Amino acid sequence: MGNRTALVTGASDGIGLEFSDILAARGYDLVLVARREDKLNEVSAKLSQKYGINCTVMAADLSEPQAAQILFQRTCGQNLQIDFLVNNAGLLHNGFFTELGLAEQERMITVNVLALTSLSHLYANDMATREKGYILNLASLAAWMAIPNQNVYAATKAYVLSFTQALADEMKAANNGVVVSALCPGYTATKMMDNPDQGAKLRIAPNMMMSAKEVAELGIKGCLAGKSAIVPGAANKITAAITRLFSKTLLTKLVGSFYRNNMD
Ligand SMILES: NC(=O)c1ccc[n+]([C@@H]2O[C@H](COP(=O)([O-])OP(=O)(O)OC[C@H]3O[C@@H](n4cnc5c(N)ncnc54)[C@H](OP(=O)(O)O)[C@@H]3O)[C@@H](O)[C@H]2O)c1
Repeated sequence: MGNRTALVTGASDGIGLEFSDILAARGYDLVLVARREDKLNEVSAKLSQKYGINCTVMAADLSEPQAAQILFQRTCGQNLQIDFLVNNAGLLHNGFFTELGLAEQERMITVNVLALTSLSHLYANDMATREKGYILNLASLAAWMAIPNQNVYAATKAYVLSFTQALADEMKAANNGVVVSALCPGYTATKMMDNPDQGAKLRIAPNMMMSAKEVAELGIKGCLAGKSAIVPGAANKITAAITRLFSKTLLTKLVGSFYRNNMD
């Protein structure tokens, strides 16, 4: 029997880079997906040398039409069976809704929601025929609340959480061996927290952030353990629990005030 293979989107940076390292350490061969091919080639060379696994680089822009279908065909074309899919690639745009560009917001919805849904559909079907597989979808703590000045991003993550939990239940009820989980990190120290391309900058103290490695480790562990929703870290768990104590209206007011006061 050959090695198992994991496909990680957004593998060139941040949490996706850590997912790739952790899965390679567990013996998975990797399919690395992101836009920057040069970065993916570096990751591929490093991980294949460090762990003796096979890496395949598939540069792709998941905001392009039919990107998921094309990626699926590329993996099928190379006889790569995907045993673990990590839908990690994601975009964030901060700022007042009507002042942010419409094209950017549409791109964010396409990558965060559409590509993730299409890849889940294509690979869940394939995994179900083999009666095994794992899908880990990146939601966020933002999924638990409406966030003024980050409203489209938070809504995409609420979609990911809702979609993934429902899909996890469907797969479990079908008893088809496909395990599906949503990972809901809070602030995590990656370039997403400090990226000039993302509109306004959100000022968050470094001690309020988890490391990408810790988040990725808890995500993989939770998915392998069959959890449908994973909130990594005690502080994030407490925040998620607190959100349930407020009415949605009051919570939105409090969160809106925090974001307005902490955005440049
Ligand atoms: N950091 C946080 O605080 C935080 C909190 C909660 C949830 N999350 C979620 O965690 C996931 C990873 O975030 P991160 O913090 O690691 O972000 P990051 O450091 O900005 O990395 C994002 C990754 O996505 C890839 N990507 C972006 N646009 C893409 C596109 N159009 N097509 C293909 N790949 C694309 C990027 O690679 P290229 O630029 O090479 O394409 C990069 O590898 C995201 O879904 C994010 O929403 C992050």
